[in-house]
Amino acid sequence: MLGIETSCDETGVGIVRGTTLLADAIASSVDEHARFGGVVPEVASRAHLQAMVPTLRRACADAGVTPHDVDAIAVTAGPGLAGALLVGVAAAKAYALALDKPLYGVNHLSSHVAVDLLENGPLDEPCVALLVSGGHSSLLFVPRVGGEDVTELGATVDDAAGEAYDKVARLLGLPFPGGPPLDRLAREGDPNAIAFPRAMSEVPYAFSFAGLKTAVARWVEARERAGENVPVADVAASFQEAVADVLTAKAVRAARDQGVDYVLIGGGVAANSRLRALAAERCERAGLRMRVPRPGLCTDNGAMVAALGAQLVAHGATPSALNLPADSALPVTEVLV
Ligand code: KG4
Ligand code: ZN
Repeated sequence: MLGIETSCDETGVGIVRGTTLLADAIASSVDEHARFGGVVPEVASRAHLQAMVPTLRRACADAGVTPHDVDAIAVTAGPGLAGALLVGVAAAKAYALALDKPLYGVNHLSSHVAVDLLENGPLDEPCVALLVSGGHSSLLFVPRVGGEDVTELGATVDDAAGEAYDKVARLLGLPFPGGPPLDRLAREGDPNAIAFPRAMSEVPYAFSFAGLKTAVARWVEARERAGENVPVADVAASFQEAVADVLTAKAVRAARDQGVDYVLIGGGVAANSRLRALAAERCERAGLRMRVPRPGLCTDNGAMVAALGAQLVAHGATPSALNLPADSALPVTEVLV
């Protein structure tokens, strides 16, 4: 299965056989966006256009296959940046038509869940998935990873967790995207230095990160106004602790409520070192099993799309039509378009 991902700023082409990863080629346009402090959609689209064919060739070379060897093609149909998605969808259609292979338009968010199979192998039980990326933060009930049936238990009411990371990182003068540098800086700070708010702690499955981001901004401003040094490592560590605390507490609670044994974590923020450590600790204490892919598979890539496509094919899903649309606002519950 060949998977194509272009929903944001990474052009990803992955190749898998079942749950075995054969190739994971990525070209990123992140450097072109850094000076704007965020992804510029039109710049991303043009970069995808340039990177698509070379990245696909690299993936085939890495896997030791030709495009004719693949059985089917999966592509991210949404959600994401409309223009960026269009490039991947158009490329996938062209390859499917030229190679006479079935095409599967899949959900980017479900791909973040399905990629776990490449790292941790098949999972024959239902799980609760904590999906935390730059654009989404949700708790999902997933009866079968890679299946078409997904229920959203709750989501963020405002910013996504990754968005909060990026905004707070910017405030602290860190480069874009802010998650990785903030993660590193936080390791030098005291997570208990500042008691930042844990929003909506009474609401079982909903998240809110906008207030936390504002609280960090106010705290930093107050320090600056008083002419005092801002202890950036402590701010980073305390912010990170607040995020990891609410995410893990709610994921564990959801798993208990749903009566499942597994908590699966996916999306770019799942690469966060503190989130991973705290989730492992709390899952163990609650008698739950945690599944999370290695950091390199948490952020956007083509292998995750291929992983989901392979599961859909294995369970007899109907291929997408060749007039498959790209849907920038595709709901998390629509796994296959
Ligand atoms: O899933 P992803 O690659 O793209 C989207 O689908 O949005 O997630 C990107 C987000 C960004 O906000 C980035 O700052 C965040 O994931 N991220 C992290 C880390 N690595 C990436 N956040 C916290 N800690 C990290 N180590
Ligand atoms: Zn993503």
